[in-house]
Amino acid sequence: MSIEIDLTGKVALVTGASRGIGAEVASLLVKAGAHVLVNGRNEDALTELCQKLNDSFSGTAEPIAFDVTDPQAVKDAFQKIFKVSKRLDILVNNAGILDDALIGMVSQEQIKNTFSTNTYSVLYTSQYAARLMARAGSGSIINIASIIGRVGNEGQAVYAGSKAAVIGITQSLAKELAAQNIRVNAVAPGFIDTDMTKSIPEDKYQQRMDSIGMQRIGTPDDVARSVLFLASDLSSYVTGQVVGVDGGMLV
Ligand code: NAI
Repeated sequence: MSIEIDLTGKVALVTGASRGIGAEVASLLVKAGAHVLVNGRNEDALTELCQKLNDSFSGTAEPIAFDVTDPQAVKDAFQKIFKVSKRLDILVNNAGILDDALIGMVSQEQIKNTFSTNTYSVLYTSQYAARLMARAGSGSIINIASIIGRVGNEGQAVYAGSKAAVIGITQSLAKELAAQNIRVNAVAPGFIDTDMTKSIPEDKYQQRMDSIGMQRIGTPDDVARSVLFLASDLSSYVTGQVVGVDGGMLV
């Protein structure tokens, strides 16, 4: 038996997809045949990325620029999706920021920005996505959480809180939306090689590397493959789960 993931005819939205994990998720979804709405804030960068994806794969990609922290912008984007596509089958809430500080040094601004980007945005997009998915009678929402949201870390109270909240949102929405055949799961990456982790101080970087059972840093592709599984019918009876993609950091 050969199993192929075919997302032809499906419409997906991936937030924060201009680089890193989001860009790889968008790429795998397009490769699987989906029509992918690629979100970020820089329209030109998104257009360039979508052109590359459209040239390379069977699915299609289309830029949709908006700031996920702006509730009105999110609403406008979903109105556009409703008008143009009439449906949304897959939502990947990936946009996120990391801004570490010890608790005594944390500013109001850091708390506000981190929770707006990592947490509130998930509620804004899920609200509209759930309505669109309910109309079609199915859907899959995948939230990119973090291992830090499960176990915490020094200097990361704000980030950990924002990601632990994403896990709570995932579990609650899974319960709320299951009867409408909308599955809601989270992926909790460990330490993944992206621009986000390049900004971590050298000693902390080494500490993280030493804690990885599989003795290598993860790639955006490692994460994207799990997202693809949760987006597809291969996970048709999976909801409310947090899939760790961390090479054995948390066993
Ligand atoms: P990244 O910094 O390379 O990419 C984040 C993306 O989000 C960028 O494209 C950025 O433009 C976008 N973004 C940020 N704020 C936005 C906003 N307000 N509106 C729209 N887009 C916005 O980071 P990376 O590593 O690819 O992270 C992706 C997700 O994975 C994040 O949620 C992050 O917290 C999570 N994660 C990453 C880990 C890692 O080791 N890299 C580990 C655990 C979780």
